[in-house]
Amino acid sequence: MIKKKANIAVFISGRGTNLKALILRSKKKKCNYKVAYVISNKKNADGLKIAKKNKILTKILSRSFLKTEQKKLAKILINKNIKFICLAGFMKILSPYFINFFKNKIINIHPSLLPKYKGLNTHIRALKAKEKFSGCTIHYVSKKLDSGKIIAKKKVKILKKDSLKKLEKRVLKEENKLYPLVIEKLVRS
Ligand code: GAR
Repeated sequence: MIKKKANIAVFISGRGTNLKALILRSKKKKCNYKVAYVISNKKNADGLKIAKKNKILTKILSRSFLKTEQKKLAKILINKNIKFICLAGFMKILSPYFINFFKNKIINIHPSLLPKYKGLNTHIRALKAKEKFSGCTIHYVSKKLDSGKIIAKKKVKILKKDSLKKLEKRVLKEENKLYPLVIEKLVRS
């Protein structure tokens, strides 16, 4: 049994399947982390409902998210003893100023096999390029978009008749499996 679980914060913008997967895993006795805080830059993000259902503290960021607000949030997260910040479909780019508060503590999941297909619309780009594989990557967040040190990757085969929807669904399933396992491993190490 884990004596004291490490606190993590999850940043979201939308649906929140990765958030849900992280929460589900965290409820297991043997899991070494708990989701202590959910931050969203969208007030209507569905993931917020998942957080509230699980009685997790939530916070909405303002649209501008200026330096003063960034500093305030960083202080709150530090005071809450947050070990890792997990970006899970968080579609806002964090500033170098904010990232600097949390060296090697901000993790992102990205729906492509990085370094291929940084940025948006990864699956459609992989399909158009007739790639044999797509997948997902978990990496540290650095100042350059989707370019930080890679922690883990999971390949997903692209099938001949794949549609964007089908491919996205299969990759997402793998994301939901991989993210909690990687966070557990990082907390352990
Ligand atoms: C996931 O596919 C995640 O990899 C992607 O957004 C989706 C969020 O889904 N993230 C990015 O594209 C970040 N650049 P979710 O809200 O169901 O977890």
